[in-house]
Amino acid sequence: MKLIHLTDTHLVAPDKRLYGLDPRARLAAAVADINLHHGDAQGVIISGDLTDRGEPAAFQALREVLEELSMPYFLGMGNHDARETLQAAFPELPRDDGGFVQYAHAFGPDADDCVLVMLDSAVAGEHGGLLCESRLAWLDACLVAHHDRRILLALHHPPMALGIRYMDDIRLQNPQALHEVIQRHGNVEHLLFGHVHRPASGVWRGLSFSTLPGVNHQVGLDLVSAADCLAGSHEPPAYGVLMIGEEQVVNHLHLYMDDSRRYFFHDTLEAAQSLEALDELIALQRDERIPTREREPLSNTLQAAEAAK
Ligand SMILES: [Fe+2]
Ligand SMILES: [Fe+2]
Repeated sequence: MKLIHLTDTHLVAPDKRLYGLDPRARLAAAVADINLHHGDAQGVIISGDLTDRGEPAAFQALREVLEELSMPYFLGMGNHDARETLQAAFPELPRDDGGFVQYAHAFGPDADDCVLVMLDSAVAGEHGGLLCESRLAWLDACLVAHHDRRILLALHHPPMALGIRYMDDIRLQNPQALHEVIQRHGNVEHLLFGHVHRPASGVWRGLSFSTLPGVNHQVGLDLVSAADCLAGSHEPPAYGVLMIGEEQVVNHLHLYMDDSRRYFFHDTLEAAQSLEALDELIALQRDERIPTREREPLSNTLQAAEAAK
């Protein structure tokens, strides 16, 4: 099965910009790209910081853009969001008995299917995250209820330090408590989070994890500066394509706004000793294989070439 991971959309009120960029336009580009290339995905997981300042107009803009998705979406709370305002804009969004945006969604009965468990790690007025006793108890019961399923666990805050000190200070503040619940059940297969606005993956206490660039602005890879300094960056946005098979979970990072050259690794490529020559080759490949199409991203081009065989 296939799922899409998006994070940190940081939408703002209409006509506003954020760090000089338009988060709504960038999210709309992601939605269009996902619909075009991953219409077979069973859902889009958005792991918090849905808005930058939690205004109703920003949540409304989010809803308008996400309504264009051809598949369901699953929202999580971030430190930049406002729980009540989120709920007002998305009244269908499930909450646990404590009012936290926590829910489970089972994707089907097959061996390569899984259950998404969304956690709410946000604390009003704080940038760091926390899972209080009530939220941890809900997770514990949820993992019992789905004891025989593969769990994909999503939350906004990373439970581990990633080496960017400013972000490390505002990570999940009680990782040990989360670990104890996860370890008690042993069915969590992969951890997804946002908040850090960078691609990163690894293993935390035996559990694999991955995170992504944000949809709007990024955090630079600065592993040196002190905790009072955070490097912003305009590196390109991305989404993750999670391919969940019986034996593995693969997370492809896709830079959906990248417009660099795309070409087939064709024999004649050896002749392309300059970018100008490569452009000529690309034009030839386009003419030979997909004469009626304008240049499109690689996956479309490859599908057209396959269909023409
Ligand atoms: Fe964020
Ligand atoms: Fe955040």
